[in-house]
Amino acid sequence: MTQNVPQHLAIIMDGNGRWATARGLPREAGHKAGAEALKKIARAIADKGIKYLTLYAFSKENWNRPQKEVDALMNLFRQYLKEDLTDLSKQNAAIHFIGDRTRFPADIQQQMATWEAKNAPHAQLHLILALGYGGRDEITTGAKRLAEDVKAGIISAESITEDVMSSYLATADFPDPDLLIRTGGECRLSNFLLWQMAYTELYFTPVFWPDFDEKVLEEALTAYATRDRRFGRVKDNETGTF
Ligand code: IPE
Ligand code: IPE
Ligand code: MG
Repeated sequence: MTQNVPQHLAIIMDGNGRWATARGLPREAGHKAGAEALKKIARAIADKGIKYLTLYAFSKENWNRPQKEVDALMNLFRQYLKEDLTDLSKQNAAIHFIGDRTRFPADIQQQMATWEAKNAPHAQLHLILALGYGGRDEITTGAKRLAEDVKAGIISAESITEDVMSSYLATADFPDPDLLIRTGGECRLSNFLLWQMAYTELYFTPVFWPDFDEKVLEEALTAYATRDRRFGRVKDNETGTF
């Protein structure tokens, strides 16, 4: 078991399309294989002692993909929410959603609400699914709500702190991610958790998401365990403390 496990792991599950193309398959087949990979790995992640797992499954910008691909993704989400999440939930996982859900088909929005209503407060794992999510969109929406509250006299402009701003984001109930893993080889954030990842450790792997397994997870966790997180401070050479 790896020491120094992140409390919150965030993953950009990227590379489904290229995984499929490399096999002469349509992109949709890559998304299906990606959903299978997720089913297999979610339990292993919880077993590592990770308490929060945030998965970037569909960005706000992904709505701009061809309708055929968006439809296939909606069908996979439908299936995942209906069947695949059940096992995890039975094993004491709470399910949360971040992102603008208003554009999703009504039945998927209903499934999201049903999961959220079921959540017990003391879950072993908090699974946070980012669907229709965009970091700038989240910050803008939060800023608008905060401005409304200032206008209504609920809070004064002078008392706005970083913690107050955080509490207006979709992630208000969760700690910031300690580790981000992005599969698929791209080294960018693609509008994911921009505010929350100020001091997150980043790990990029060329492995396409459908091939992500316990071995790759272990590699990422081992790399994380050796990182020296300083948060802008300087450590005392002798004591190793700040
Ligand atoms: C990630 O894989 C899944 C989603 C964005 C929904 P991609 O579909 O982006 O796969 P690549 O990056 O084109 O290979
Ligand atoms: C990021 O991947 C979004 C998800 C994995 C859901 P994209 O494939 O959409 O990102 P870009 O276009 O390569 O930046
Ligand atoms: Mg991609």
